[in-house]
Amino acid sequence: MDAATTVTITGAGGQIGYALLFRIAAGDMLGPDRPVKLRLLEIPQGVRSAEGAALELQDAAFPTLAGVEVTADPAQAFAGANIALLVGARPRTAGMERSDLLAANAGIFGPQGAAIQEHAASDVRVVVVGNPANTNALIARASAPDLPDDRFTSMSRLDHNRAIGQLAATFDVGAGAVRNPIIWGNHSASQFADVAHATVSGRPVMPMLTERMAGYDTALAWLDDEFVPRVAKRGAEIIEVRGSSSVASAASAAIDHTRDWVLGRDPAAGWVSAGVVSHGEYGVPEGLVSSFPVTSDGSGYRIVEGLALDARARYRIDVSVAELVAEREAVHSLGLI
Ligand code: NAI
Repeated sequence: MDAATTVTITGAGGQIGYALLFRIAAGDMLGPDRPVKLRLLEIPQGVRSAEGAALELQDAAFPTLAGVEVTADPAQAFAGANIALLVGARPRTAGMERSDLLAANAGIFGPQGAAIQEHAASDVRVVVVGNPANTNALIARASAPDLPDDRFTSMSRLDHNRAIGQLAATFDVGAGAVRNPIIWGNHSASQFADVAHATVSGRPVMPMLTERMAGYDTALAWLDDEFVPRVAKRGAEIIEVRGSSSVASAASAAIDHTRDWVLGRDPAAGWVSAGVVSHGEYGVPEGLVSSFPVTSDGSGYRIVEGLALDARARYRIDVSVAELVAEREAVHSLGLI
């Protein structure tokens, strides 16, 4: 067996934390040969819940689990961390303005970014799940200026997986037959789920949709009126049907995001979507954490460049990126970064 990897999970006493911990401990994220040490960070009110999860982890007797620590101290939680999954965030509550939400989360992700820079392992990789995920990642990144910016990512893999699920259902195939949808922009209602480069069983999706919908215009209308909003608003649909938010699928997406980032991904399996720091790719302003198509050879996520964008895609990406710009400006004007 390899040396143990230290994985820090914030918000570990919460719902996604509970689903995530057992998958990681079972070896689903880093494989059966890599032992993991789990560090569970919570605020004082959440510590008992995380401690309860730690007791259950012990009872599950996972061979890959090399230890569990629960703490409310970020310095202790991030000490030597190789992977940091930042799940705990301040949710929006009734009457809260967007600026209040950004400020409350900057109060979490700013100090956590600084603690990661100071205490984590030199190879640390950070995945932000807690919302607003892209801007929380931007704040954490800004608070850790000595670390390379490719260490900070936000999760849009759940949206990516949802797009795959919708296409698989439409064409009545398994999810494994679908490749290369793209989530562009913000993890919010403005995100753009793009199928222009997607394939199903090796065939491009657009001609398949055109055939199924009896015309290109009706295919585009279906994408605009049904597919794109359904992917973007799937979280609300889950809450309505299940009576509770998407938890297991979010945890599963965090596992997928981290596994592909750290272990690499077979190029034949196509690209995935992740929030990464822009260097101006596809006209996205530098420094924003925006969702892009990415590949990974294990050393890092690389943006897939050179994909053609039509006017519709350009417009929808610009709308979502404008929202990210507005969030960054709000954070700047509040003096939070
Ligand atoms: P939850 O409310 O069940 O758990 C959050 C936990 O975070 C709580 O136990 C809380 O005590 C803890 N926490 C709050 N502040 C903290 C801090 N400063 N340090 C450490 N822990 C802290 O929420 P749930 O369902 O687990 O969701 C977590 C986050 O993930 C939410 O922000 C949610 O919106 C987001 N999310 C993101 C998705 C994505 O696709 N990026 C998908 C689904 C959820």
